[in-house]
Amino acid sequence: MAQIAPPPTARPPATPGVNAASASPAEPAAFRWIPIRSLAQRHRSKVLAHLLALAPEDRYLRFGYAANDAQIRRYVDLLDFDRDEVFGVFNRKLELIAMAHLAYLPDSAQTRHAAEFGVSVLPKVRGRGYGARLFDHAVLHARNRHVDTMIIHALSENAAMLKIARNAGATVERDGGESEARLRLPAETFGSVLEELVENQAGELDYQLKSHAHRMGGLRRIVGEIKAGIKKVRSSTIE
Ligand SMILES: CC(C)(COP(=O)(O)OP(=O)(O)OC[C@H]1O[C@@H](n2cnc3c(N)ncnc32)[C@H](O)[C@@H]1OP(=O)(O)O)[C@@H](O)C(=O)NCCC(=O)NCCS
Repeated sequence: MAQIAPPPTARPPATPGVNAASASPAEPAAFRWIPIRSLAQRHRSKVLAHLLALAPEDRYLRFGYAANDAQIRRYVDLLDFDRDEVFGVFNRKLELIAMAHLAYLPDSAQTRHAAEFGVSVLPKVRGRGYGARLFDHAVLHARNRHVDTMIIHALSENAAMLKIARNAGATVERDGGESEARLRLPAETFGSVLEELVENQAGELDYQLKSHAHRMGGLRRIVGEIKAGIKKVRSSTIE
């Protein structure tokens, strides 16, 4: 959470009905492809809306502290879309329902060719594989950019995040309330570069289709309102 979160504060009281840590995951749906899109500067407001929608308990799990709105705004303002990568999953309403931040870490004594991963999925779509899918997608991108270690800092109580890391083969080291997961990445291959290309194109196409359908839906609503208005005027002039 180092690159991915500003200064910590105390653990928030649990929000009634929202307790990510203990919520049992829904029955995993049968495999279905989840389109992921790479986000850019112009999506900053969508990223902000997504993170501000997280309940205090989830902000605590995401950032390791109960980030308030101002701290989340600052984190979003500081997001460097040129240095790092940000990925998103959109629903048909073009709402950003899941997002991940892949921060490429500067080489240091502890880490070389490493990247850090942070993710959040809105509660209404959890337990459907979005979190794991975003992790796999980030691993593919990192691998193709000569990263050999993916790092996740998570609170030790964050069963879902640690499950994602372990399922991917990461080793998890626990240090009290905090855990660090490290996953060694294989070198890039022609296959992994091609896979990324196909995934990126498919994610972009999916978004274009959704935004087209969204616009058409809006158009249909407007036409419907106009027709209703004309009908009303006509019926009032006939009476
Ligand atoms: C962590 C988070 C992203 C997981 O998202 P998700 O889309 O529900 O996760 P997935 O559906 O991909 O599930 C991944 C695995 O975790 C398991 N899991 C999901 N929720 C769980 C929970 N509450 N407790 C235990 N395991 C859980 C799933 O069963 C799955 O394991 P499986 O494939 O072996 O069955 C989501 O809970 C979240 O946004 N939490 C708040 C923010 C946060 O904690 N971010 C991570 C900080 S780095």
